[in-house]
Amino acid sequence: MPHPSPAEPSTKPLVVLGIETSCDETAAAVVRLGEGVETLSSQIGVQFDQHRPYGGVVPEIAARAHAEVIDQVIEAALHEAGLGYGDLDGVAAAAGPGLIGGVMVGLSAAKAIALARDIPLIAVNHLEGHAVSVRLTEAAPYPYLLLLASGGHCQLLAVEGVGHCVRLGSTLDDAAGEAFDKIAKSLGLPYPGGPALEKLALEGDPARARLPKMLADRKSCDFSFSGLKTAAARRAELCETEADRRDLAAAAQAAIADQLADKSAIAMRLYAESHSTGRLFAVAGGVAANGEVRRKLAAAAEAAGFGFVAPPLKFCTDNAAMIALAGAERLQRGLVDGLDAAARPRWPLDAEAARDRPLHAPGRKGAKA
Ligand code: KG4
Ligand code: ZN
Repeated sequence: MPHPSPAEPSTKPLVVLGIETSCDETAAAVVRLGEGVETLSSQIGVQFDQHRPYGGVVPEIAARAHAEVIDQVIEAALHEAGLGYGDLDGVAAAAGPGLIGGVMVGLSAAKAIALARDIPLIAVNHLEGHAVSVRLTEAAPYPYLLLLASGGHCQLLAVEGVGHCVRLGSTLDDAAGEAFDKIAKSLGLPYPGGPALEKLALEGDPARARLPKMLADRKSCDFSFSGLKTAAARRAELCETEADRRDLAAAAQAAIADQLADKSAIAMRLYAESHSTGRLFAVAGGVAANGEVRRKLAAAAEAAGFGFVAPPLKFCTDNAAMIALAGAERLQRGLVDGLDAAARPRWPLDAEAARDRPLHAPGRKGAKA
């Protein structure tokens, strides 16, 4: 099938099925990209119950659980959209970064559909999905500045256009969602910890538990959460009452939100120096579901003279609509992949920055971000 060159995006409306299996959500969705974006369906099966006894995601359990339900989830997405396989212009799957067993389940399903229906396959970077997630519901023209804060990633990116992101900053250790999850665990909260910690923090007084401010004196927009995580875990052992636990949850949440907002403010200044347009700040990823984080980021954007957009909560955490949209935007430009597309456990969005400014010495496992 001939595809337009990347320079001349096709204007024909495109219907794309997206598949997402890179962590513990098995998701499928259908998006139509024409003049605007329409999410025709979005199905998400979560595996929380299978992982809860272990306090976190177990890769092997996740992969098996994806394999068991992927067919039904895809059928349900097509059914919700009122469409059949014959209506699809392309099929997109998250091909990484993520837990490799799960990624292979979703990517293999997409390859099978592409082969059987003779439609293009688009192997989407999961992070590119998060990067476009605001475009599912908001007018967010390229370029914009993005904070991507999830369970596995925490980075600030200039999103310049389709498939083109420039990394301004990243975490030196844990991701923000990981910090939420681990602090929640030390407070005895069930997995997934972020939403549970936000609930506990509701009635807490953040001023009653002092926690360290990480990298506060640095002018870069890199993040660090591991010291905060350790300090909060130590304090959790000293909590005697429910009020102590609430206050610690509130203090930890405030500390994470403050760091995200402070580093985003630095990134907005850097971004403004190199961009004469696109004064828009977007947040994406599971941590963007947190009310305090959203409030502090919105305030930082206002102070910097930027507009602020955040996806609705259902598109903050992992979903397949964002994969379908990233796939449709690539397909519009003829950016499609062969059936030999590889599943990738690691896949930096900004390959140049990852090569020239690695955050970790070679051979070390380092941050997932
Ligand atoms: O984007 P996501 O679903 O998966 C990844 O790609 O990692 O993000 C999941 C992360 C988890 O760490 C979860 O605890 C966190 O997002 N999260 C939250 C909230 N909802 C999800 N963290 C804080 N407050 C929330 N309301
Ligand atoms: Zn994600």
